[in-house]
Amino acid sequence: MATRADEFIRETPPIDTEAPLPNLGHERIPGERFHSRAWMEKEWTHMWRRVWNMACRESDMPEAGDTFVYELGKESFVFVRGEDGQLRGFYNVCQHRGNQLALGGEGCGHQQAFQCAYHGWRWNLDGTLDHIPDVETYPQFADGVPRDELGMEPVQVDTWGGWVWFKMDPGGPDLYEFLDPVPDHLAVYEIEKWDIVDYKTFEWPCNWKAACDAFNESYHFQALHPQMMQWSNGIADIDLMGIHSRMVNQYSTVDPRYPDQDTPGPELATMMGMLGIDPETYEGKPKDVRLVLQQMKRSVEDKTYLPYKNLRDDQLSDTYHYTIFPNVSWNVTSESINGFRYRPHPTDPNLCYYDLIIMRHCAPDEPKPEYTHRVIPVDQLPRSYLDVLDMDMHPIISKVLEQDGSNLGAVQRGLSSDGFKGMVLCDQELRVRQFHLVLEEYVNGDR
Ligand code: FES
Ligand SMILES: [Fe+2]
Repeated sequence: MATRADEFIRETPPIDTEAPLPNLGHERIPGERFHSRAWMEKEWTHMWRRVWNMACRESDMPEAGDTFVYELGKESFVFVRGEDGQLRGFYNVCQHRGNQLALGGEGCGHQQAFQCAYHGWRWNLDGTLDHIPDVETYPQFADGVPRDELGMEPVQVDTWGGWVWFKMDPGGPDLYEFLDPVPDHLAVYEIEKWDIVDYKTFEWPCNWKAACDAFNESYHFQALHPQMMQWSNGIADIDLMGIHSRMVNQYSTVDPRYPDQDTPGPELATMMGMLGIDPETYEGKPKDVRLVLQQMKRSVEDKTYLPYKNLRDDQLSDTYHYTIFPNVSWNVTSESINGFRYRPHPTDPNLCYYDLIIMRHCAPDEPKPEYTHRVIPVDQLPRSYLDVLDMDMHPIISKVLEQDGSNLGAVQRGLSSDGFKGMVLCDQELRVRQFHLVLEEYVNGDR
């Protein structure tokens, strides 16, 4: 039987670099939305409740009764695989007096049924009410228990890319309409087969949108990540795709603005070493290292389980940075994704949760990787992210994340300043503008 995955197109459309960038205006983006509690509440009602949110991996819940608790802003949700194999999602709340049903915070669990720890009301895995202790002492139920009204409160649930997505408000676009055209673009990567190899959450001292904005442009490479000029091209092609967007970062190359275009800088030389290219004997130009990498991968395309054959040359060397509105960014390479998710704090617009989720396309015969999720509070942020990651991230990459993370407290202070007149954005920051325009449409009730 054909699945939806079979219906996707089997190649990623290239970015049309000849097409002029759309004109989205030049107005300043006010700082208010980054620190105002009123904005935070409007965002919750008009945006978060009405978009599809990425929760957890489908493979985290293989068996009936397997659960996953996911938290977003002020809410906690519980996802569960039913006896019938169906995945369902519910607000994690007891309809008696409001206790949480699945306790213990985020992550995987297993339940025979949902029994509240407070007075023992119990629900089946499909969310239907099963039992109320001493039900005869509720006079209001004398004519029968209103089972529909007292069922667990559901959210819409669907899956794509091996992820479970959910939407709080009923109605609206289905998941695939909402994500369009991202599922088409990424079908060739076969992300549904990938596994999480590490997942850590950092509490950052900024609004979730400040974190999101920081990854939605490459303009800041020169100033904040000057070392990246040696091994990447900060001038990225940009593509706006409805409410979503992407840009391409060429890695294993040199930025055209870097002064030495003839000799690999130390960071590029290190990266070449990681790729198995000897910088001592390499005779080409630094900017062309990515071409060598492309050839290396192309030469093994018949021998690997990785779908190199379906990828263009640029997809073999470069990173396609997709932002799925509102809060998921994936740096997609041919073998792995450095994924980011930005979550609002339950009560404070000056804090957010930055989820660093690293996924890899593991070999079919490889055992499923284990990972341990942990939240690192804002007062315990490490100097080096390598100190908290379980996987072996190269220091070259972790340095970039450390630079991004350590900058955002100051950005948040500035965005909240009475002296700040609003963000002034250039064409290299067009995705930031588009993100804020889409957000405004939601918050104003126009979408
Ligand atoms: S609050 Fe859950 S049974 Fe009372
Ligand atoms: Fe950055």
